[in-house]
Order: sequence, then structure tokens, then C-alpha cells
Amino acid sequence: MYIIKTILELQNLLHQNASVGFVPTMGALHEGHISLIEKSRLENEITVCSIFINPTQFNNQSDFEKYPVTIDSDIEKLIEAKTDVLFLPSVNEMYPTGMENIPIYDIGYLDTVLDGKFRPGHFNGVSLIVHKLLNAVQPHKLYLGEKDFQQCLVIKRMILLQKLNVEVITCPTLRDDDGLAKSSRNTRLSAEARLKAPLIYNCLYAIKNNISTIPFEQIQQSCVQKLAQNGFETEYILLANADNLEIMTDFDDTKKMIVLIASFLEGIRLIDNLRMN
Ligand code: PAJ
Repeated sequence: MYIIKTILELQNLLHQNASVGFVPTMGALHEGHISLIEKSRLENEITVCSIFINPTQFNNQSDFEKYPVTIDSDIEKLIEAKTDVLFLPSVNEMYPTGMENIPIYDIGYLDTVLDGKFRPGHFNGVSLIVHKLLNAVQPHKLYLGEKDFQQCLVIKRMILLQKLNVEVITCPTLRDDDGLAKSSRNTRLSAEARLKAPLIYNCLYAIKNNISTIPFEQIQQSCVQKLAQNGFETEYILLANADNLEIMTDFDDTKKMIVLIASFLEGIRLIDNLRMN
């Protein structure tokens, strides 16, 4: 595996005509990330993974400072998964003129709901870094996880507005055996909290199972309560149209529906989602 730290070296390496699949990450790699690498390896001649903890997408400084860094084991996992290239740029390489006065992306409605509403500036930082990384890597296909469902829609919109020539492939959420969505942030949970964390998935599943019997608002309230009893502080449990994330007040089987949850456990923000139909 090539480990490349500058855009110039990357472009020298990738200038051949081979098809390139790209998996952007912030490291602390787990099987969810590796599933994207595996999918890219099946569909492309060269697979590039990037690891860059992007400062401009953290609306909370302490979340940024506490973001897990496990670069040695990340490299081992990437080699084991037969990744061709790891792009590992410095902050200076990605933000040579600093991080003040960064461009503003037109995220529109998506920035007003769910994580857009609760994490101001987050999706602008995501749009900016993914735009920069796509310019650097110039891949044919971009692999994203549905675990970050709203992020997928925001990045697709950025690609459309910037007229970038790349196909987006969204991949299913990988979970631990108890249902907890794999996430770099899970490593920060205490043993006790780790046992409670799957409750988020249990709630999503309970909502799906009761879709035709209980009004959404009622089951939403009981999930918020159940989570609170177990030490969670819930930011949102919302039902939305999976095509555009328009918020829905009750189930409507004529639309593609998804339920999304963001909830804090021990101050660690966990998100998950499940399609309802
Ligand atoms: P990160 O959280 O490291 O995630 C990198 C990619 O892995 C994202 O596309 C994410 O949706 C996917 N992923 C995470 N957990 C997953 C799981 N359990 N199953 C399947 N895929 C999963 O998302 C980011 O980094 C950043 O915002 C980034 C896009 C790299 C921009 O900085």
C-alpha cells in the first residue's frame, strides 16, 4: 500500500487510466469503513482511502480534540483489506491558507433539519473537505455509508451543484451483533455505556415493528423516555421522507420512510437510522 501525504504525489501516482474508487474517512477504522473499501475493491482497479480528521466539520472543539486517533492499527487494517493507496494529508496540506473565511456551500433545506439544525456549520465543513478530497483524488466512484444518511444527501447535492463527475455509491450500515451501529465514537464509551448503547437500535426496530399499530408521535415519546431512563439525552427521534428528509408527522406508506436518532450517552453523540419500508 502506498502512503501518500501530498496532493501532488497523489496526482503523480494516480494519473494512469485505471478506474479509481475512493473511501474518505476520519480514521479509527472499523469493519464499517472496511466494508466500503471491500465494495470499492470489487468495482474499481484502484482503491484510495483517505484519513483526515477534518477540523472544519466539528462544531464542538472538545469533540474534535477527543476524536480517536489509531493510525498504526488503521494502516494495518487497510493493508489487510488490500487497499492500494492511503492518502494521509496534514491540516496544512488540505487548508494551506488556513481555516478562516472558508467558502460557504449552498446546502439549502438539508442544513435546517436533524444534524444540520443541531450541528451548525458541520455540513459546510463536510461539503468543503469532500470537495477538496474529490479534487485531489479525482475518483470515478465515491463510497459513503448510510449510517450517516443525511451526510450522503448533502454530499450528493454538493457534487451536483459543483458539477463534479463522480458516481456516489451508498453502502448499508454495519452493526455489532447486539445491533449497535459500528462507529469510531463507540470506542469512547465506558463498558457500562457500551452495554446500554444498542438501545438506540432497539428503539428504531421497535418503531419499525409498530408502524401500522401506534401513531409515530406516541412511539417517539416512549422511545425518548426509555432512552432517558437509561442515561441517554436525546437530541431527536424523527420520521422523515427518505428521498429528501422532509420531516413527517405520521407514517405514510406511499412515501419512502426513515427514522433517524441522535442521542448522547456519557456526552458522546451517537447517531443511527433505519428505513421503515
Ligand atoms: P467517518 O465517520 O470516518 O466515516 C467514513 C465513512 O464510513 C462514511 O461514509 C460513513 O458513513 C461510513 N461509515 C461509518 N460507520 C459505518 C458503518 N457502521 N457501516 C457502514 N459505513 C459506515 O463520515 C466521515 O468520516 C466524514 O464526515 C468524512 C465523509 C470522511 C468527511 O470528513
